[in-house]
Amino acid sequence: MKFHVLTLFPDMIMQGTNTSILGRAMEKGLISVEAVNIRDYTKDKHNKVDDYPYGGGAGMLMQAQPVYDAYLAVTGGNATLTEPNCEDMSMQTTERKKTRVIYVTPQGRTFNQQTAKEFAMEDDLVILCGHYEGIDERVLEEIVTDEVSIGDYVLTGGELPAMVMIDAISRLVPGVLNNTDSANTESFEDDLLEYPQYSRPETWNGKSVPAILLSGDHAKVDAWRLEQAKERTRIKRPDLYEKYLANH
Ligand code: ADE
Repeated sequence: MKFHVLTLFPDMIMQGTNTSILGRAMEKGLISVEAVNIRDYTKDKHNKVDDYPYGGGAGMLMQAQPVYDAYLAVTGGNATLTEPNCEDMSMQTTERKKTRVIYVTPQGRTFNQQTAKEFAMEDDLVILCGHYEGIDERVLEEIVTDEVSIGDYVLTGGELPAMVMIDAISRLVPGVLNNTDSANTESFEDDLLEYPQYSRPETWNGKSVPAILLSGDHAKVDAWRLEQAKERTRIKRPDLYEKYLANH
């Protein structure tokens, strides 16, 4: 999976993604993160990338030209990738897979585990980070395929949302997590939150690990975990629990 992030703050993206699990995934070549500095593409002689909004209003807007040229540099001027198994020559020009260009904005659809799974199926993702009061609408109309928000609150820029998405998507890429189980038994899988977990020592601060986990009976442990997951979800996330009940 290759992430191409169009941003005014490339250092923030690189520093936020090159450690721990994601850093290891990069070293193994399972993912790559390319942060493209939009400012490098401005044609303004003072390196400006923003200007006042027509019609007035607070703040500055990112201009279309540098954003578009950064996008062209990343996509090679052609944001489409030919389908690898396309035998019909006529299809090669008409039926192409478009590289998704995600604009992170509070106006987008809310990112969740399902969206992460959907994006994890792609080979390349372009993520566009806004700043100031936003980006000239014309370039958004031209290049953006998806608008995504990470929640109903407003941040100063799109870099943190981009990193949140890169993290959530990358851990779904095969091989990124050591234990393949952990991507299947975690919270939100099957509309349930994850069951409680315990490690050594057996007793800590007067509290003991539930006896069933020491029993060695895997079937009983699984059944207990499922019950715990259901009970947790019912109490902490009744909305999710309703969904679980409707599907089971
Ligand atoms: N940019 C600013 N706030 C945002 C949010 N909540 N989600 C995505 N992008 C944003």
